Amino acid sequence: MDVTIFGTGYVGLVTGVCLAEVGNNVLCIDIDPHKIDLLNSGGVPIYEPGLDEMIQSNRTAGRLRFSTDAKAGVEHGLFQFIAVGTPPDEDGSADLQYVLAVARAIAEHMTEYRILVNKSTVPVGTADRVADTVREVQARLGRTVEFDVVSNPEFLKEGAAIEDFMRPDRIIVGTDNPRTAELLRALYAPFNRSHDRLMLMDVRSAELTKYAANAMLATKISFMNELSNIAEAVGADIEKVRVGIGSDPRIGYQFIYPGCGYGGSCFPKDVRALERTARGLGYEAELLRAVEAVNFRQKTVLFRKLNDYFGGELGGKTIAIWGLSFKPNTDDMREASSRVLMEALWEAGARVRAYDPVAMDEARRIYGERPDLILVNDALSALDGADALVVVTEWSQFRSPNFNAIRSRLRIPVIFDGRNILDGSLARAAGLTYVSIGRAPLK
Ligand code: UGA
Repeated sequence: MDVTIFGTGYVGLVTGVCLAEVGNNVLCIDIDPHKIDLLNSGGVPIYEPGLDEMIQSNRTAGRLRFSTDAKAGVEHGLFQFIAVGTPPDEDGSADLQYVLAVARAIAEHMTEYRILVNKSTVPVGTADRVADTVREVQARLGRTVEFDVVSNPEFLKEGAAIEDFMRPDRIIVGTDNPRTAELLRALYAPFNRSHDRLMLMDVRSAELTKYAANAMLATKISFMNELSNIAEAVGADIEKVRVGIGSDPRIGYQFIYPGCGYGGSCFPKDVRALERTARGLGYEAELLRAVEAVNFRQKTVLFRKLNDYFGGELGGKTIAIWGLSFKPNTDDMREASSRVLMEALWEAGARVRAYDPVAMDEARRIYGERPDLILVNDALSALDGADALVVVTEWSQFRSPNFNAIRSRLRIPVIFDGRNILDGSLARAAGLTYVSIGRAPLK
């Protein structure tokens, strides 16, 4: 089938390449000529495991093309995926200007039936706004070409996006038109083989499902982070509590890992946007507000622990940081806990020596050259001349370090584990003080 994707960001690229992989003819459109040039010359603007290889093989096979030509895009695909950004406005609500600009472009160039498929995470009611926008343009141009707007939210996890798209646990299709539903069912058939994962619903429920899923997951994390602070106060061990509650299948083990807060481009933005949507309709979403507030506070927990340990004397200290990305297997540092920590350390007059397996260039891009940020090429080098080690991101390569090597390279033998991924008893056996989340330090 012929598919057009507007937006070659994270969701657009993954959607485009996966649809091409199963044999569709995909044309990706972006207004940024630099991005399109890069993609056309074999580059990839983001890091995602497996993406690069799949883009190159599908380009070579001629099933995946990139262009800035919106008209060609509208002519090409029966399916017009909208996968452009919805950055937060100053008040946290989603800014729809890019989504509506694509809707206008499609309306201007459309000469036969088209299905507009919303993949961007958009507030409830956006599909109706997209449809209104198309109708307005058509009225202005004196045309009436048939179209449908479908909500088909994406549930990809960064770092596992290809796998999530190829083997989804659900495919949500929101449309009131049975014919459109059948066309989407056919498009998704290669991803929907073993049992039916396609869930058909009305447009607004599909739009809300996306926010509900992310808000629920963020709530689980904030709940555990809140509990971790209570565990510390009462002298309990949050890791024992986690295992104890996770064994109840109604609660489950997933997404109940306490840590130094959630980041990324989705949870923080989506929780805020849902709360703003509710408020705009006269409903105060108290729980969502608390989820956000708890997360905000949890991102400062590592700084507070360091500050307590050093008796408020962080000025002139050097702190080693392992992990800069908001989670493993990505170079994405949007809303990452590492940023809150580094910025607080700088404010207190400390220096940072940091290592991340893939996010070093991103850190350079964000912070530029500065004397209080030293980016090093391997984990152990971060420790040279450092007064403490802080683990911020749960990369698997940080999970079983050589504690003796850490002990001999650090100036002061102390580790702060912001994700509870290290074996504290081994750290202590090597002569290190081990400070973690939601339990007493091991000295
Ligand atoms: C999230 C959702 O998990 C996806 O289902 C969704 O499609 C995506 O947002 C989106 O809306 O596009 P993502 O932001 O890639 O995916 O990352 P997650 O793996 O969910 O991790 C989010 C954050 O939560 C990370 O900072 C992670 O370290 C933290 N986390 C996760 C915890 O602190 N504890 C946990 O138990 C799990």
